[in-house]
Amino acid sequence: MRKVFVTGGAGFIGSAFVKLLLDESDDWFITNFDALTYAGNLENLTGLDENRHHFIRGDIADRDAVTQALENDCEAIVNFAAESHVDRSITSADDFLRTNVTGTQILLDAARAKGVKRFVQVSTDEVMGSLPEDDASFFTEDSPFAPNSPYAASKAAAEHLVRAAHHTFGLDTVVTRCGNNYGPRQFPEKFLPLAIANAMNDQTIPVYGDGMNVRDWIYVEDHCRAILAVMEKGKPGRVYNIGARNPRRNLEVVQSLLDALGKPHSLLRFVTDRLGHDRRYAIDPSLIEAELDWRPRETWASGLAKTIAWYRENNRWLENTRSGAYRDYYRLQYGTEVNAS
Ligand code: NAD
Ligand code: TYD
Repeated sequence: MRKVFVTGGAGFIGSAFVKLLLDESDDWFITNFDALTYAGNLENLTGLDENRHHFIRGDIADRDAVTQALENDCEAIVNFAAESHVDRSITSADDFLRTNVTGTQILLDAARAKGVKRFVQVSTDEVMGSLPEDDASFFTEDSPFAPNSPYAASKAAAEHLVRAAHHTFGLDTVVTRCGNNYGPRQFPEKFLPLAIANAMNDQTIPVYGDGMNVRDWIYVEDHCRAILAVMEKGKPGRVYNIGARNPRRNLEVVQSLLDALGKPHSLLRFVTDRLGHDRRYAIDPSLIEAELDWRPRETWASGLAKTIAWYRENNRWLENTRSGAYRDYYRLQYGTEVNAS
């Protein structure tokens, strides 16, 4: 068995990666290490093969817990664990620094101590800041760091630590920088699942500012296949941008969603803009396409249809995540009740 230590594997992308790995080959044994914060959900892991998947509840910023959980003969650590929502980082950056920065360094130290063969850091296009609105500029692997939110700054700091571990100690590291993911099991604080959940309940959809901000959307499983390719074939020390060549304005995203759900565009509500809101993200994925022969499998239409179908079929998951502390978060963030029309 080839052992992989996945952190944050009870979250949105991490759980999709765990499922993909188990589906792709019988060779993998996964230790899934996750603190189960508000974003982690054991329901995301139901039905997995227990002979090949072992869940440990633990915090990557807890050195003893990581040392205890990480075995010696591991092929890779894949680090998904993070505080991941920009709006929460604007409210308070504390947890972002602890998990995204300190946690990453603790994992790097543990990887060296235990002789882990490869360290995969799951990063984000947001470390490169905001592009001009010219439709002609794209993020490449050589784009300079220019993080604008506390979230992006913490992910950029983590990347610097990964780079330093490679340069100073020769640790085999690879970094992936992806754009906005969408798909099943995404926590409904993020734009797409929030919009789907609200629209399904005939509630208004809050659109920040003028809705003309651009995000580059990718179906979560396509992102996970790219991470797998980088884990297996990426060059040591390299950064790989991941994107499906699918940049869209937020307004267009909501409109296609409402059309697909058969709901009126009148559900759309412009609300106060996010502080420091990045205007445009767009990724040039030429390197990963050429070097690792990776391509996305889903189009925007097919990915959106799959995503909507999943949320329709999993209303209980959605309602569970939209209860409890989520209601307080929603009231603070949007100034209305989660179930207000
Ligand atoms: P998520 O918020 O859905 O999940 C994060 C997971 O990490 C949760 O299961 C949570 O319990 C766990 N976690 C948080 N703090 C932890 C800690 N201290 N120790 C152990 N586990 C902890 O996030 P996601 O959207 O699945 O993102 C996963 C990774 O991908 C993140 O590193 C994020 O920066 C990156 N990323 C996300 C996107 C996106 O569009 N969502 C795009 C590019 C990169
Ligand atoms: P989000 O899903 O938070 O991802 P990120 O900020 O990491 O790109 O937001 C995606 C886009 O949608 C972003 O431009 C902010 C916007 N947005 C809204 O317009 N309304 C909302 O309620 C949220 C959460 C986001």
